[in-house]
Parts: sequence; C-alpha cells; structure tokens
Amino acid sequence: MAIVDNPKTLDLDDIQGMVIRGYGKLYQTAYFLLKVKDATGAKKWIKDTLPKVDSADLSTHPDETLHLAFTSVGLASLGLEKENIMAFPVPFREGMVTEDRSRILGDYAENAPENWRWGGEHKKDLHILLIFHSKTDEALDAFMAAEREIIESEDVLEITTEMKGHLREDNKEPFGFHDGISQPVVKGSGRSGPDNDIVETGEFLLGYKNEHDQYPFSPLLEKNQGNISLLSDDPEGTDKKDLGKNGSFMVYRQIEQHVDKFWSYMEDKTKNEDGTINEDAKVKLASKCIGRWPSGASLALFPDKDPGGNPSNDDFGYAEHDPDGLKCPFGSHLRRNNPRDAFRWYNPKQSLKISRRHRIIRRGRNYQLPAKNGEEKGEIGLHFICFNTNLQLQFEFIQHAWSNNNQLRNLSNDIDIVIGVPPQGDPNSENGQFTIQAEPTNQFIDSWERFVTIKGGEYFFFPSMSVLNYLSTI
Ligand code: HEM
Repeated sequence: MAIVDNPKTLDLDDIQGMVIRGYGKLYQTAYFLLKVKDATGAKKWIKDTLPKVDSADLSTHPDETLHLAFTSVGLASLGLEKENIMAFPVPFREGMVTEDRSRILGDYAENAPENWRWGGEHKKDLHILLIFHSKTDEALDAFMAAEREIIESEDVLEITTEMKGHLREDNKEPFGFHDGISQPVVKGSGRSGPDNDIVETGEFLLGYKNEHDQYPFSPLLEKNQGNISLLSDDPEGTDKKDLGKNGSFMVYRQIEQHVDKFWSYMEDKTKNEDGTINEDAKVKLASKCIGRWPSGASLALFPDKDPGGNPSNDDFGYAEHDPDGLKCPFGSHLRRNNPRDAFRWYNPKQSLKISRRHRIIRRGRNYQLPAKNGEEKGEIGLHFICFNTNLQLQFEFIQHAWSNNNQLRNLSNDIDIVIGVPPQGDPNSENGQFTIQAEPTNQFIDSWERFVTIKGGEYFFFPSMSVLNYLSTI
C-alpha cells in the first residue's frame, strides 16, 4: 500500500476542527459540562462564542481552540422543537444510557451508569459540552478562567462538571502505549494518508455519501423555526433543510485505567520458572494484547522486538503480513477494532471494504485526578472521544460486536483485554482467556481481568459552524 493524495473538496471552514484535526501540539484539554438555565441567554452565548470555535481549516495553527457539542436534552433545552429533535437518530435521542444500550456496551456491574460521575442518571442536566485545547497548562487555566467568568457573569448557564485532560509529548496513553496512530483520513479533507485509511466522508460527516454509497441518517428539519436560510438543503433532494450537514456525532466515555493491575497481570503471567520477573516477556504479552509495541510499532510488521523510536506507521494490512495472527493476535485490541484487510471469509479488497464501514476518528486524551485521602496517586485514565455519523454501525458495533464478543472468529471465551466486557450473566466469563496464535500450538493466557472502568459518558451532536449559528437563532 502507499500514501495517496486526498484532494480538498470539503468546505473546511464550515466543519468544527476536531473532526479533522487532532491538535497534536495543543497538549492540554479541558471539558465543561453545561446546563442551560435560560434558553434565550444560552443562545446569545452560542452566538458570542462562535467566533472562538475553531474550524477544520488546516492552514491555521491556533494556540488555543474551543469546540461545542450538544446532547438531545440540550437541544431541547435551547428550544429546538420536538418534531426537530425527533428527526435525530434514536441512539443520540435516547442517549448512551438505556437498558439496551448498557447491555450492548457492557455498562453493568462496576461499569454501571448509576456509578458514573457524569452522564447516566445526571443526564437531565447535561446539555452542552465545551471543549478547550491549549498549548500549556497555564494557558489552559487562563482560557478556562476567562470562559468561566463569561458563563458565570449571568444566570444563563451553569457549569456542572469541569474536567481536564492532556496529551503526553510522546503520545502514550496511561498503560504506556503510543496512541492516536491509526486514524481514518476523511475523503475530501485534503489530508493525505495510507490507502487503507482513506474513508468516505459520510462515515464521519453528515450530508455526504458513506462507505455504503448512501447518505447517513441526518436530522432534516421537520418544523420550520429560526433562520433556516443558514441551513443547507437535504442532499437527497427533498425540500427539507439539513441540520446535520458538515456535523458529526461524538461519543465521549471517561474510562479509568487500572495501570498497576494491568502491569501486575502481565508480570504474573510471564514470570520465569524460578519466579523472577521476565521484563521482555511481560512487555511482549502486553503488546500482544494491544496489537502494537509501546513505541507504536505494529506487531504485524515487527513481530519479535520493539524497534523503538517513533514508528507511527499505519500503512499495513494483515492479509500479507500476518494472515494467521501469528504476529498480531486476532483478539488484540488493534486487530479486533479494525481487522483491516483480513476478515476470515473475504479477500483483502472485500475485507477492507467491510472494515471501512466500521471506523471511528479517535480524539482521546489522558487524565490524572489529584490523589484523594490516603491514596498514593489519583485516578488515571482516558477521556475517550470519537466521531462517527452512525453510532450504531460504528462506535457501538466496534464495542459490542468486536470488543465484547467472546466468540469472535474461532476464539473461545476471549474478549478485548483492554476494553471488552462479556455478556452479562455469561457463565463462562469466570474462565476468560486470551489466545495468542502460535506454532506449533496456540498459547492461552487464562483468567483475564478488567483493567478499565467506565466513569461517565454520553452521546453528543457536533454541529457544523453554520448549524451552531442556526441554533443561536431558534
Ligand atoms: C482506556 C481505554 C483504551 C485504551 C488504553 C486504548 C488504547 C489503544 C491503543 C494503544 C491503540 C493503538 C494506537 C493506534 O493505533 O492509534 C488503540 C487503537 C484503537 N482503539 Fe483503543 N483504547 C481504548 C479504548 C478504546 C475504545 C473504547 C474503542 C472503541 C470502542 C477503541 C478503539 C480503537 C480503535 C478503532 C483503534 C485503532 C485500530 C486500528 O485502526 O488498527 N479504543 N487503542
């Protein structure tokens, strides 16, 4: 495969930046969860905030950025008519927490929404998400303080939760693995990338054709309200206006990572016969679980040893390099969540086509909370954020059908060791294992444990710049 050109055809000025840009040099992030107290004031605040919201125009290099996202309760709290809310897809309308969705996502027991810090049962007060990016922590604090002052100067919005996140300079997530390497490249964005990563625009932006050669389900205005001249026409040719065009749906899950437990597990499973620690075997097992070495090097390309450096290479498939999973196990986090060109019953071209229908753009950031009474260190984890146009076919499918699936391919009672959760009540979940394909026989690491816990989450609508403007007029 090769890096291919991807000419710019999209109106990047109308797209909120985060869909297209990772802001890799803006290391610091913050999140304000806002409750609308006064709709008229909140709409004025959106209008005033709009000039600060960064677009996807790649020629600019801002030192700080703002982005805005809305829950369905939030859109209602601004006064969007019920008929227009009903035009949105069901998962967004209902939100991340329903009985069915919790079952699909594995949000039960320690992950149960009633234990969440935000989202879940707090969702009636979760209306708007404001995301900040800055270069330094000092700049972020100043940026947040300025916004806090604006928000608190009038009794219009209430900040119900404030959270901070960061990107390490070496791009490692808290378990110590290079993250943010495999990313789809949005067709028409002007960004180039490996052929396998160029994905139809409609998988990530509403109003364009997706990998099924169809327009994704976009909210079309059912009842006229506000300044509809700000809205695009339905690309499918009805006389309705499209609230979705150049927007996306955003998944946000705050995921605690049990870093010490993760590494003790890897250590225990790989000890030498005399009980001493085998450092190389420990790192190799963890890398087999992830699917990349800590440096980010792909196991499919470097099966034996971490080459080190910063090999953030995504230009590979499994069909040519590792059809039998002997290098990168079928059950690894990477291979489950994007099987690329190597599905069991399909040729590489067909496989890539299927994989491209289930991709997400990830924009995660690490977090560390201050230590609480008696704790050595505070909670550590990931603000997992991703963009997609179809929550069911993309994020939910990945989490449910690939990560939580304990019978994927011919694996038996394996789940994604990083984020998988077996079906609730599964009698076999006590005997979970992780299979490493090997010659002459497979190896089985028994008794997986849970290394992450969900702490909060919700689905958001991430409107275009013109729809943000529109929302201020309803
Ligand atoms: C704390 C939780 C998580 C950790 C520590 C984690 C870690 C990682 C790491 C280290 C990579 C490899 C770097 C890269 O290729 O960019 C990766 C890739 C990936 N992760 Fe996660 N991840 C987490 C949660 C999730 C969740 C919740 C999902 C979706 C349901 C997800 C989906 C993916 C996908 C799609 C890839 C790229 C696979 C590919 O294209 O080859 N991850 N993750």
